[in-house]
Amino acid sequence: MSDINNTIALIGLSWGDEGKGKMTDYFAQKADIVVRYNGGSNAGHTINANGIKYKFKLIPSGAPLEKEVIIANGCVIDPKILLEEIENLKNLNKKVNLKLSSTAHVIFPFHKTLDGLEETSKGEYRAGTTKKGIGPTYSDKVARWGIRVFDLIHPDVLKPKLERLFKIRKELIRVYDPNWDADFESIYNEYKSYGEQLKSYVIDTAYYLNKAIDSGKKVVFEAAQGNLLGIDHGMYPFGTSSNANALGISAGTGIPPKKIKNMIGIIKAYTSRVGEGKFPTELTNRTAEKIREQGHEYGTVTGRPRRVGWIDLFNIKYGIMINGIDKIIITLLDALQGVNPVKICTTYELEGKNLESWPIQHEIIEKCVPIYKEFKGWDERTREEWSEIAREGYDALPDNLKIYIEAIQEELKTDAAMISIGPDRDETIVLDNVLF
Ligand code: GDP
Ligand code: IMO
Ligand code: MG
Repeated sequence: MSDINNTIALIGLSWGDEGKGKMTDYFAQKADIVVRYNGGSNAGHTINANGIKYKFKLIPSGAPLEKEVIIANGCVIDPKILLEEIENLKNLNKKVNLKLSSTAHVIFPFHKTLDGLEETSKGEYRAGTTKKGIGPTYSDKVARWGIRVFDLIHPDVLKPKLERLFKIRKELIRVYDPNWDADFESIYNEYKSYGEQLKSYVIDTAYYLNKAIDSGKKVVFEAAQGNLLGIDHGMYPFGTSSNANALGISAGTGIPPKKIKNMIGIIKAYTSRVGEGKFPTELTNRTAEKIREQGHEYGTVTGRPRRVGWIDLFNIKYGIMINGIDKIIITLLDALQGVNPVKICTTYELEGKNLESWPIQHEIIEKCVPIYKEFKGWDERTREEWSEIAREGYDALPDNLKIYIEAIQEELKTDAAMISIGPDRDETIVLDNVLF
């Protein structure tokens, strides 16, 4: 096994959209391989580089740099979206160096139908899903009805499995919508064609990746979603259906935990949430509007306005513990400009007492009151000024912003490896170069 310090995981520590795409692209500059290991086209990862804005739902964020990109077994694949993303990259004259796991599961149109129907049926317990079929596909995986990429690329294997799955899912959909129907043959033919188009990318990614890591290749694991949306350690049931954190990497790739060396947690300077569920530090006033506009907080996948609020270091501390985070990256610090004062949530109060640990259960979180520390804000700058600050480095930051960054590190007892003060690849300040 390699002793080289050649693997790094970038984990979102909140409710997603922490800037994982931007930071993955940044690390990809030094990496050989970038891996997605959870989720599917519910993700929306944005990269701004050399005047081009990329938005990826499935393709790992190493693609703009033409790095090797791997979609591992823990992901759920919408083949149509994957093929579109490949096509978009080719249209930008990018070489697509993709490998797709034969054991990742496949999303079918009836999974998306079910996603929508189940959401409606759940009423107040709905998560506000992206309706991309993520939950129903993972459900089929766990129930062992699921169809894998291997099946997709072997039409003779696909047909009987799809017939069976289509039958049972039709029965379920008709519980919600008795008149629902779809044509099996057209779904089968459509997916057979996707299989033919994707075949050349499909391999055993676990074997490939283990060998690559052992030979010293530098690998970035790019999480989708965020720790608080995770199925086991997030705010259940208001989250997604995969382990959207460091704990998902091994199961989602076949890489043993001891080969994953550097755990980096990505946090925003404030918090955002898209979808349903309790959000203790949520703001609904003019400050929220200002932050939403300055951070362009509209969903990459759905276009929905994201809910925003103060940074919640209490749930982030929990994420640091669960994920074994070594260093943090703080993003979107520029988007808090002109907000005064700025607040940091350090704990929650429940029945007159400050809690020691984040309570996880939404029924308890609902009763909690966030406790804040207040800081002076920093003035607005133009985009050019923020870019100039990034070029000059940490010392050029506004003094109050430095105080805010230092307070976050102190409260979390975790150092920042980097900070991000703009969407562009270059609007990044490296504080600690030990990674890779
Ligand atoms: P991801 O899902 O974690 O990859 O994040 P998204 O791409 O969904 O959302 C993050 C948004 O913030 C994107 O529009 C990024 O381009 C943008 N972004 C990332 N870092 C920064 C930053 O430091 N400042 C600003 N202003 N925008 C940023
Ligand atoms: P990235 O990778 C933010 C949210 C949805 C919903 C819940 C379940 O861009 O950070 P799902 O469609 O997964 O069944 O929805 O999870 N959600 C995300 N929120 N960023 C994401 O991905 C998300 N992916 C899913 O809004 O509340
Ligand atoms: Mg996103």
